[in-house]
Amino acid sequence: MKVPAPVKTSVEGFQVSVEEIEAILQHPPMKLPPWKDAYMKLKDERILFIRAMQDEDVPILLDFMDKVKKTEHDFYDIVAARVYTEILAVPRKRIKDPFTLVGLIDGELVGFANGRMWDKDLAISLHTMAFSRRGRIGWAMYYAKTYYALEMAGAKEWWSTFESYNGWRMAGLEMAQPTKPFPQMQHELGGATVFYLTKEDWDARVKNYARDMVGDDLHFDPSAELKKKNEKLTVPAELQL
Ligand SMILES: CC(C)(COP(=O)(O)OP(=O)(O)OC[C@H]1O[C@@H](n2cnc3c(N)ncnc32)[C@H](O)[C@@H]1OP(=O)(O)O)[C@@H](O)C(=O)NCCC(=O)NCCS
Repeated sequence: MKVPAPVKTSVEGFQVSVEEIEAILQHPPMKLPPWKDAYMKLKDERILFIRAMQDEDVPILLDFMDKVKKTEHDFYDIVAARVYTEILAVPRKRIKDPFTLVGLIDGELVGFANGRMWDKDLAISLHTMAFSRRGRIGWAMYYAKTYYALEMAGAKEWWSTFESYNGWRMAGLEMAQPTKPFPQMQHELGGATVFYLTKEDWDARVKNYARDMVGDDLHFDPSAELKKKNEKLTVPAELQL
């Protein structure tokens, strides 16, 4: 777009570096605490290890989401397609203050959960996925990211929405989350209804959800052996969703 200058100028223009543009496009990150490695025992005795996504995981996860997005049932396709962009947005710095967790069993990816901070008081839930089914792994992953937002990052409110019936059951129904007025308020994922939890709701009863619904709590004291086993992320050789 060009508009004639209303005054004589000494120079005809400026050169702007991409670093200068980046400073405008990218906001300075909040000082968020790191997720602490944790584990939870599943009903079938398997040990789910939950750690933060690392830079080395990114290309592996992107390839994997490319495969998962071809799964045309239970909304895996749309969720994987959206998760692909949310993972890529982390190294490309096109997502504000994300937190991204992977759930591993002996290093193999079985779960995923992410969210981001809107500001210091509000955290937004993005997506949760289970890649080994019927183990309530999704429930443990959703609990872990809610725990991060409300217990570690200090948010006062947590906004979710649900693209799938399993997702709604896992957290909308089983955490008895109320909703914000619609259409006045919409979640950033597709403009859907906002389901929410306050820190008060969490403290009053939702904190017990993992014990009630999965059968264990998060433990933040993994052994060196357990950490070592889950250092390098691998993905399932075959999709069984
Ligand atoms: C939503 C999600 C994370 C829930 O995680 P999860 O509970 O660990 O995973 P599952 O989908 O395996 O289990 C959901 C229920 O369906 C049942 N189920 C799963 N596959 C089944 C099958 N083939 N036949 C019958 N029941 C099945 C499970 O037993 C479980 O019920 P239960 O908890 O009473 O045992 C997971 O379903 C998922 O990744 N879905 C696709 C992405 C998605 O929708 N994410 C949420 C977006 S809001």
